[in-house]
Amino acid sequence: MKEVRLHDKTFVEFISHEEILQTVRKLAAEVEQDVEDIPVFIITLKGGFMFGSDFAKAFTKPAVFDFIRLKSYRDTESTGDVQVLVDVTEDIENKEVYVLEDIVDTGNTLEKIIGLLKEKKPKFIKIVTLFYKPDAYEKAYPIDFSGFEIPKKFIVGYGLDYNEKGRNLKDVYQLKM
Ligand code: IMP
Ligand code: MG
Repeated sequence: MKEVRLHDKTFVEFISHEEILQTVRKLAAEVEQDVEDIPVFIITLKGGFMFGSDFAKAFTKPAVFDFIRLKSYRDTESTGDVQVLVDVTEDIENKEVYVLEDIVDTGNTLEKIIGLLKEKKPKFIKIVTLFYKPDAYEKAYPIDFSGFEIPKKFIVGYGLDYNEKGRNLKDVYQLKM
């Protein structure tokens, strides 16, 4: 098993890059079946940059892309406090909006994103997340498309960080206990 050391913690390989890409392609195909009009994909930064990029390459229908950046996380525990750093700039009124999330944990970030987007009057908002921790999720908003349902354990790699380290790892690693 491959291991990486980031700051004070050790992480062990959890999901390979190949497996991630297969799942991203599967998600893109599912969403492709779901869209009726030209969708707006909103990639959540920073964590969603790799997922958003591979999803975009796998999605073959016309689409518009935008970004949103919130900050909610400190260390390996969610703080519940969410701040907007970059807002969407596309006009999404009456548009089919799909939020491309790297990971949904407690759902605090997602709730904030949905609140912000709803004010812009889209036709609908659906959630596409690569990783989802159902045991940590505290909200009622449905997770429409999820790549991997994972246990309540901290992961890094493929865009996800531990205090800004580990984002560039191709594979995903899990905190070693
Ligand atoms: P939530 O608001 O608790 O759902 O947390 C969502 C945000 O926390 C994500 O967008 C990530 O930035 C971060 N996060 C949650 N779980 C993890 C993890 O396991 N690894 C890295 N970042 C995480
Ligand atoms: Mg995120």
